[in-house]
Amino acid sequence: MPPLEQSLFLPDEKSTIQLAEKWAKPLFSATQKQRVIVYLNGDLGVGKTTFVRGILRALGFQGAVKSPTYTLLETYRLPEITIFHFDLYRFSDPLEWEDAGFNDLLQNRALSFIEWSEYGKPCVPDADIQFNFAMQDNGRNCTIQSVLF
Ligand SMILES: Nc1ncnc2c1ncn2[C@@H]1O[C@H](COP(=O)(O)OP(=O)(O)OP(=O)(O)O)[C@@H](O)[C@H]1O
Ligand SMILES: [Mg+2]
Repeated sequence: MPPLEQSLFLPDEKSTIQLAEKWAKPLFSATQKQRVIVYLNGDLGVGKTTFVRGILRALGFQGAVKSPTYTLLETYRLPEITIFHFDLYRFSDPLEWEDAGFNDLLQNRALSFIEWSEYGKPCVPDADIQFNFAMQDNGRNCTIQSVLF
């Protein structure tokens, strides 16, 4: 199967949430077979955390979805899936990934979203799918690259 690549325009926050809702089920299903690593790329404020919020809502999580900028990691244990939301923006060294024991967390049935993965390279595992967000007009452009779908 050739790798998927597609690009779309997201005019407002609602469309970022809708994109996340669309991807929630495929990502959930893939995670039943293997661990899944999702990179969310793009500048500060481009909508990465908004996307994770949309995924969690679509999978039935009702609570608060906070940015892990200061905590590095927020964990959501749902009945059939564990979701890890990393934000590595505050890493000063990629080895912090290993020191924090993050590699050990990424087991089967774990779906991981990683913001600012570049600060954890090369310690952070490669992505199965990447959502690349960029500012465009008053909205966002999103390019999706996947070796999994
Ligand atoms: N498609 C969109 N068009 C316009 N605004 C959007 C869109 N998607 C999300 N936003 C808005 O962008 C703002 C920042 O979103 P968010 O916190 O998710 O960004 P982030 O990429 O996680 O930032 P950071 O790198 O600082 O963690 C929010 O106010 C959100 O409503
Ligand atoms: Mg964020």
